[in-house]
Amino acid sequence: MKIGVDYYPEQWDQSMWERDAEAMATTGVKVVRLAEFAWTKLEPSEGVYDFAWLDEVVRIFSRYGIEIVMSIPTNCPPKWLYEAHPEMIRVGPDGKRLQLGIRGHRCLMSPVFMRYAKKITERMVRHYASITSIVAWQIDNELEAYPCCCDECRNQFRAWLIDKHDNLQNINAFFGTNVWSNEYSDISQIEPPTAYPQMWQNPALCLEYNRFTNDVTANFIHEIAMVIKRELSRAKLTTNTWFCENTPDFYKMYEQLDFVSYDNYPPVRVPEDPDEFYSHAFHLDLMRGIKGRNFWIMEQLSGPTGSWMPMSSTTRPGQLMGYSLQAIAHGADTILHFRWRTAVAGAEMFWHGLIDHSGVPGRRFFEFSELCKTVSKLGVIDTTEIVSDVAIIYSPDNEAAFRIQPQVEGMYYLEQLKYFHAAFSHYGANVDVVPPNADLSGYKVVVAPTMFVYDQTAAENLYRYATAGGTLVLTNRSGVKDQLNNCIADKLPTVFKELVGAEVAEYDPIGSHEQKIRDFAGNIFTCRQWCDILTLTTAKAYAEYDDSFYRSLPAVTLNRYCNGVVYYVGTVCKMDFYESFVGNIMKQTGIPRLKGLPRGVEVTTRTNGLDDFIFFFNNSEKPASINLPKAMFSIIDSIAKDQLDLKPFGFDIVKK
Ligand code: GAL
Repeated sequence: MKIGVDYYPEQWDQSMWERDAEAMATTGVKVVRLAEFAWTKLEPSEGVYDFAWLDEVVRIFSRYGIEIVMSIPTNCPPKWLYEAHPEMIRVGPDGKRLQLGIRGHRCLMSPVFMRYAKKITERMVRHYASITSIVAWQIDNELEAYPCCCDECRNQFRAWLIDKHDNLQNINAFFGTNVWSNEYSDISQIEPPTAYPQMWQNPALCLEYNRFTNDVTANFIHEIAMVIKRELSRAKLTTNTWFCENTPDFYKMYEQLDFVSYDNYPPVRVPEDPDEFYSHAFHLDLMRGIKGRNFWIMEQLSGPTGSWMPMSSTTRPGQLMGYSLQAIAHGADTILHFRWRTAVAGAEMFWHGLIDHSGVPGRRFFEFSELCKTVSKLGVIDTTEIVSDVAIIYSPDNEAAFRIQPQVEGMYYLEQLKYFHAAFSHYGANVDVVPPNADLSGYKVVVAPTMFVYDQTAAENLYRYATAGGTLVLTNRSGVKDQLNNCIADKLPTVFKELVGAEVAEYDPIGSHEQKIRDFAGNIFTCRQWCDILTLTTAKAYAEYDDSFYRSLPAVTLNRYCNGVVYYVGTVCKMDFYESFVGNIMKQTGIPRLKGLPRGVEVTTRTNGLDDFIFFFNNSEKPASINLPKAMFSIIDSIAKDQLDLKPFGFDIVKK
C-alpha cells in the first residue's frame, strides 16, 4: 500500500525540487508521477533532446527513496511540431482545427503524430531504462475516444467500415440508409456522425463510429506500449483514465497494459437524499473489474476542484483521507494525490493540490500527512484482494448506445447499474463490476441491467449462468437493439424472452412522472422513468403496477429457468425498492447481509485467503456508530473493539 503525489518539476523553480522531495519523504510519500506534459522541455526542437533537468529530478527522488511513475508526454506535443505538421491537430465537428495553447489537441490517428510520439517514447525509455526506481510508465493522459473529424480520421473510418462490412451495399442494408433517403452510392459520402443535429444522425453509424474511435485510441496505446516493451521488457505499463464526455471502452483500452489507473475525483458534497444518486464506490469497483484485479489511483482528490468550471467546496475534514482509504477498500493498492503543489499559472490553477498557492502547508496537507502515517500501518493488507458474491455487468456498447439515443428523460445507463450497486452496498456486500464476457460461474447473483445492444457472447454467457443454477437479474431496455444498434423485430425482451419467462406487451416511458408498484408482500414503491407492461409466459409476478391503465399487471417478475432463477425488473424505482428487492435476493441466495448499517456507512472486505479485513467508511457528514457482533482487532488503532465510532468521513479497518 503506497501513497504518492503528482509532481510537475517543470512548473517550479529548480531550487524547490530538493526541498519538495525532502518534504515528501518526511511526510511519507513513496511514489511520484513525473513528466506527463513535459514534451517541449524534453525535446525543445526537433531531434534535440534535453533530459538533463529530468535526470536531476530523478536523481533527487532516488536519493530520497521515492519511486517514480514516468509518463510518456504525448498529450502535449510541442508547438514546433504542430507548426511543422498542422495536419496532426484534431478537427472539431465544425471542420476547424482546435486552437493551440490547450492540451490534448493531437489526432491519435495522424501518422505524423504517431511517428513523433514513438520517437519521444523510444528516447525516454532508452534514456531511463537503467533507473530501477521507475516502477511504472504512464502512457499519455486521460485518453478518450475522441471524435476527430480530420481527413485522416474520415478516410480511416471509411476504410474501417468497409473492412468490417465488406462493401457499400452491406453498409446501406445494415445501417438502414433507406430511411430519409440516405443511401450511399460512394464510400466518400460517409461522414463521421458528429455534426449538428447529433440526435438526427443514424444510430447504427453512430455506434460504429464510437467503436471505431475506441479502436483508434486502443491502437495508439498498443503502438506506444510496443515501443516501451521493446526498449524495456520489464516495464510496467498503464494509462490514467476517468469518466468523460468521450468515455473510452476501458476493456479495450487496457488490454495491452499491466494495470488500470484511475483519476478519482469524487464529489465533495454528499447528497442527503438516497435517491439523489451517490454511489461513488461503483466507479472504483468498475475500475477493479476492467482487468479483474487491484488497480491504482493515479490522481486523487486533494482540495477544491475548478478552473474549467466554478470551484467546488473544499474537502470536509476527514474527507481527503476517507476517500483515499475508500479507494483502498475497493482494491486500489497505490494512490497518488493530485497534486503536491497547486499551480500558480496555467489553465488549472484552481484545481487545488495538497499545498495551496501560498506554498504554506495547511489543514489539507496535514490530513494528507496523517493519511501517509495511517497507510504505513496497512502492510498486512498488501496482498489482499476483493472476493465478491455479486457481479454487475458493465458494457461500453450499452453505455454508448444509451448516450446516442437517450431513452427517456432522466434515464442514464450508468445509473441503472448504480441503483443495484448501492443496494448491495447498503448491506455491506462486496460487488464486482465485470465485462459482459466475464466468467460468471463463481457468483451467487449476477445483475445485468439494460442489456440494450445485442452481444452474442454476453447473451450466451447469461443463459449459461442461469442454466447452471445462477440467480440473474435483468431489467427493462434489454434485447432492444441488434449488434448494429437497429431495433430487433420481435417482442421484447427478444433474445432474453426465455430467460425472463415474460414478454413486454407494451411500454410506457414515463420519465419524471411517478407511479406506484406493489410487491408480492404488499409493499408499495415509487417507480418512474420506464414501465414495461408484462405478459407472463412461465414467470410469476414479483410486483405489479398499482396505478395507471396497467394497474395489476406485472412490473417485476421471477422465473425459474433450468437450475437458475431469473428476475426481470421492468421499471425503474427509487432506492427503497432496490434495497428491499436486493435484500430478498441476498436472503434467497445465502449472501450475508449486514443489517442496520447507518446510512452512508460503506463496508467492504479484502481478503488474503486466510484473513479477512473489513473496511468501515462513514461516507457522510454525520458521525456514525456501529456495533460489531464480537470484538475485532482494529488495525488502525491497534486495539480490539466491539463498537466503532466513526467521525464524518471516518474510517476503521478490523480483522475479522
Ligand atoms: C485530470 C488530469 C490532470 C489535471 C486534473 C485536474 O483530469 O488528468 O492532468 O488536469 O484533471 O485539473
